[in-house]
Amino acid sequence: MSTLMTFHPLQGLKVYCSISEPLKVMISGAPASGKGTQCELICQKFGLVHISTGDLLRAEVSSGTEIGNKAKDFMNAGQLVPDEIVTAMVTARLSREDAKEKGWLLDGYPRSFSQAQSLEKMKIRPDIYIILDVPDEILIDRCVGRRLDPVTGKIYHVKNFPPETEEIKARLVTRPDDTEEKVKSRLEIYKQNAEAISSTYSNILKKIDGNRPKEVVFEEIYSMLSQVQKDKVKPMKLGTTLESLNQASSGKDNWRGIPTRLNNIPHSREIRKYFYEDVLQATQRAINEGRTRLKVEINIPELNPEMDVYRIGTLMELVRVIALSFADDGKRVKVCVQGSMGEGALAGMPLQLAGTRKILEFMDWGDYGAMGNFINIGSIGAKEVDEQDDMFILVAPQNAVGNCIIDDLKAMTDAAENRPVILINPRLKDLPGSSGIMQVSINQEVVYSTN
Ligand code: AP5
Repeated sequence: MSTLMTFHPLQGLKVYCSISEPLKVMISGAPASGKGTQCELICQKFGLVHISTGDLLRAEVSSGTEIGNKAKDFMNAGQLVPDEIVTAMVTARLSREDAKEKGWLLDGYPRSFSQAQSLEKMKIRPDIYIILDVPDEILIDRCVGRRLDPVTGKIYHVKNFPPETEEIKARLVTRPDDTEEKVKSRLEIYKQNAEAISSTYSNILKKIDGNRPKEVVFEEIYSMLSQVQKDKVKPMKLGTTLESLNQASSGKDNWRGIPTRLNNIPHSREIRKYFYEDVLQATQRAINEGRTRLKVEINIPELNPEMDVYRIGTLMELVRVIALSFADDGKRVKVCVQGSMGEGALAGMPLQLAGTRKILEFMDWGDYGAMGNFINIGSIGAKEVDEQDDMFILVAPQNAVGNCIIDDLKAMTDAAENRPVILINPRLKDLPGSSGIMQVSINQEVVYSTN
């Protein structure tokens, strides 16, 4: 989780949080498909803890431990080491603090269906399961030509990646299981197990062509992992409590069940909040993902004049929830209400919006001074777009008699360039205004974001 704290004399201590859970990656592939080589590059870029069962076992063997002595013969014969030895080793390593904090890259585990099931039972699941795909004949050549540097742990190949100096060359070693015969046996075992393991991770499986230069393979892996990492970042609102942070980091989604007492109109504050939060989440997601268009339809009757209970207050509350949420994230939000479009104070202004700006100004905008600092109120049109504004919320823009709002909207969105413009429009169908002199004709978008 990353947290940024700032102090402002007017606003007191502000804490901006975004939760970014550490990455959890599994990499799989036949012997010599390039797992170790890619892991080196992945760890350099993403700082994950590399857990290679092959490396762990080889370390046990060379230290002559009990585990090493048990594993040695299996490894040298190119066979799998018994599950109970490997699984205990992997879960112990995964539970260490560094793996929890920095994230992990599991290489060479699970290697059988039962190993995959062991992890599932412990609810240990990666974010992504990468398989490196390389044709058999290439694999054998890679294995036979592989050399390891016992000092740095770096992987070389006599032809593909020869050592940089004579000194390194002189100390390189060959793995005892890298003979052609043993590679064939390892490959066979891999093939027998691959499908059953893949089925466990089918929804997060990404197959990559590993028969390309290692830099090209890594480029593809890099962009996949960056995307996964981006998807894992969850922006948190100001005032987030420790409890809600814990809930968010434990991966619970925001579904709160179907609200009860839906038939009471006007709805209770709690029910209204339910609708506002849903619109807010959709809007935040669209903006974070850089979507250029989003249409959210909410069917709360108070926002539908056809149901005769249209309340401007409900609209204002929705505007407040959205504006404050972005302001809490440090964005400067301009809330825009259509001004007069013709001569005279109210001429050319939709009746429904008369007084709306004043209501907004008098509303409760929280006690940390958001209004005037992070939230400002303006009108609709290109000249309202100031350099310091980060985004715009347009409240129920409508045609007014003799005037069309579309040109002003277009000019404003053009001036805003790539800054988000959120249009909050209650379901305004073509209705005669109460005085008979105005009508509304922009219909049914409730929230619309563009950039
Ligand atoms: P392990 O060490 O995991 O071996 P492996 O899976 O057979 O994989 P390798 O290490 O051979 O290959 P790699 O994919 O890492 O390829 P590398 O990057 O080195 O396991 C060893 C043994 O331990 C097993 O046989 C088993 O006995 C036991 N074991 C481990 N895990 C177990 C488990 N979960 N359960 C039971 N037993 C377990 O690259 C290979 C060569 O190709 C190198 O020379 C490299 O320079 C070259 N190369 C890499 N990428 C490229 C490229 N793009 N182009 C050209 N050459 C490349």
